[in-house]
Amino acid sequence: MTLPSIAQLLKDRMGLHSSTVGSSTIQHAIEQRMRDCSIADIHDYRKILSLSDTELDALIDTVIIPETWFFRDRNPFDAFKQWLQEAWLPGHAGSTLRILSVPCSSGEEPYTLAMCLSDSGIPPRNAHIDAVDISYTNIEKAIEGEYGRNSFRGKPLDYRDRHFQACGDRYRINNTIREYVSFKQANLLDGSFSRNRAPYHVIFCRNLLIYFDRATQDTAIDRLQALLHPDGLLFLGHSETALLFNREFTPLKNPRCFGFSRYTAAAKKEPYTSARSRQHTRRHTAASAGSPEPLPFSDISPAVTVTTASTGNNTHSDLLQQAFRLADEGHLGEAAEHCEALLTSQDKQADAYYLLGLIRESTGNLAEAEQLLRKAVYLDPVHHEALVHLGVICEQRGDSINAGRFRERASRTAKQLTSGATK
Ligand SMILES: C[S@@+](CC[C@H](N)C(=O)[O-])C[C@H]1O[C@@H](n2cnc3c(N)ncnc32)[C@H](O)[C@@H]1O
Repeated sequence: MTLPSIAQLLKDRMGLHSSTVGSSTIQHAIEQRMRDCSIADIHDYRKILSLSDTELDALIDTVIIPETWFFRDRNPFDAFKQWLQEAWLPGHAGSTLRILSVPCSSGEEPYTLAMCLSDSGIPPRNAHIDAVDISYTNIEKAIEGEYGRNSFRGKPLDYRDRHFQACGDRYRINNTIREYVSFKQANLLDGSFSRNRAPYHVIFCRNLLIYFDRATQDTAIDRLQALLHPDGLLFLGHSETALLFNREFTPLKNPRCFGFSRYTAAAKKEPYTSARSRQHTRRHTAASAGSPEPLPFSDISPAVTVTTASTGNNTHSDLLQQAFRLADEGHLGEAAEHCEALLTSQDKQADAYYLLGLIRESTGNLAEAEQLLRKAVYLDPVHHEALVHLGVICEQRGDSINAGRFRERASRTAKQLTSGATK
């Protein structure tokens, strides 16, 4: 009985839902801490946990998944920079832009935001980033600001030459970038989290909600929504966007930036989202009270002329790449056409189903998104992203049994991916 009671303690304190990481992860963390404290009996360890906040913090530090890197996913940061140029800078010369990065882990995400600000010509006196994580160890690492190779993944790495100093085989973040960020240990789920915080214009909350159960996700999103300025933007992790449907948020143009603006503000003014996407949100919000209304892409006028989808002149992989590029640029209708063209051919690709599913998900058509994602994992049973999205969609419609199954499969594929990458 003691392991479930410690798992419950972790859930109550930090929101961690054992099915998302697997009970073996929690068990390994407990065993690690018991070894560190030279305690042999788990009942004794449970007693210490209930008496000592320091030990509970140490267990949290051992169980968390601190995985992060600079410019993780890229698209959110491109969308952020575009918003700075198109929406923030023209109307807010001299005012202070307030940003929240929670959870910030060891600092890569808030420092990336700071690099975007610096590269956009916004000086530290005109922008401030509050960076928060539950782990004291992560906050210490972030303040230290020294990083190894694992924090720099993918290319290009030109930002590293501009904003870091090499020290041996590590890289130290420059002081000008540090100036934008204040780091603090805090728990997003703690009642005092919002105390003395003015609203933020931009909130990054990526790759945290996925570890919570539905009720805790709702609590966390309520908190973030209350902290977001009426004209603000909220960015979630790639597999967390379904959590905002039925809420007053409008997805930004590019579904793979996983960013949203507040619907209420969008209805009043003309911010970053198009009239078309506002119309979609309104329909979605109205429909969400009853049965969800599908939002077909035929409603979205092409913003640019692009090559007509055809499997005749293009190889499948070219078409697929084009589809991803179009989706990244916000041309969802054309991206969907490319996927559909690919899916009429003999050689069906899991990624085409995945992207089409993502596009449907981004416009609120969760039922069709689920069908498409299921086809993706039928063709590719270890398609990690599709499995993660399916977990969230099932959770969203209250099917916690299937949500748990997809999460478990996703966590197995993540382990396979990690062990494959380190071989
Ligand atoms: C996977 S990292 C995400 C970091 C970064 N946002 C990113 O996407 O790269 C998850 C982080 O969530 C933190 N965390 C877990 N529960 C938390 C909570 N209740 N409040 C604040 N941070 C939390 C962990 O310490 C860990 O550093």
